[in-house]
Amino acid sequence: MNKEEEEGEEEEEEEEEEEEAEEKWINHYSNSQRILLVGEGDFSFSLCLAKAFGDATNMVVTSIDTQDSLAKKYSHAIGNVRELEEKGCLVLLGVDATQMSQHFFLKTQRFDRIVYNFPHVGFLHRENSYCQIHKGLVKKFLKGAKKLMQKTGEIHVTHKMGEPYDKWEIEKKAAKIGLALHESVPFKKQDYPGYANKRAHGNNSNLPFALGEANTFKFTLKSRVTS
Ligand SMILES: C[S@@+](CC[C@H](N)C(=O)[O-])C[C@H]1O[C@@H](n2cnc3c(N)ncnc32)[C@H](O)[C@@H]1O
Repeated sequence: MNKEEEEGEEEEEEEEEEEEAEEKWINHYSNSQRILLVGEGDFSFSLCLAKAFGDATNMVVTSIDTQDSLAKKYSHAIGNVRELEEKGCLVLLGVDATQMSQHFFLKTQRFDRIVYNFPHVGFLHRENSYCQIHKGLVKKFLKGAKKLMQKTGEIHVTHKMGEPYDKWEIEKKAAKIGLALHESVPFKKQDYPGYANKRAHGNNSNLPFALGEANTFKFTLKSRVTS
């Protein structure tokens, strides 16, 4: 190989390395962040991020469901889980969001982003009923997430706006736990191609629910804001 050819090859290698190292983003999320997803439905949100990153070795994704219940409730969940695993994602089933800080594996990990989209206990009542809301679920999730987050990390909770969801007073709850609201930004489903939000309960578990106006609330450690 002459000198010119050698230099050409070196340049090509450098370009390839640069491409490999390039950070990939989808909205608030990047492949340089270690991301934990909690309370997933059919795992389509997780898969959307994984596809944007190309590989999903930076992601741990969880559901309270078992393999059996996933197969019964959703038409695409098992296929989505398979694709996620092929991309190097760790998928954990049977993870209760209210107890995740005691989970044998999760408790050994720290995350840059911990995400729970639409944390409902189920559409057991009228959609606009206050009973939709299980205040304990959000509070316990936030408490556990605080233990699993990096000092510079963020916890993201997305929920619908207006009655009765505003009654959650999520900001107040978070403040009591030592978390500060960094920002609250509109959630747009179209920003997440392939994401299929799921009712997740009852005979209609595979159906979507009306998203309407929804926001992503981003929390950080209070001590980080005040220090
Ligand atoms: C309205 S669904 C939203 C599902 C999914 N995040 C989405 O965006 O389509 C609410 C989800 O919370 C889950 N869930 C309820 N209680 C939970 C708990 N204690 N731990 C983990 N997940 C829970 C349900 O199984 C369901 O998947």
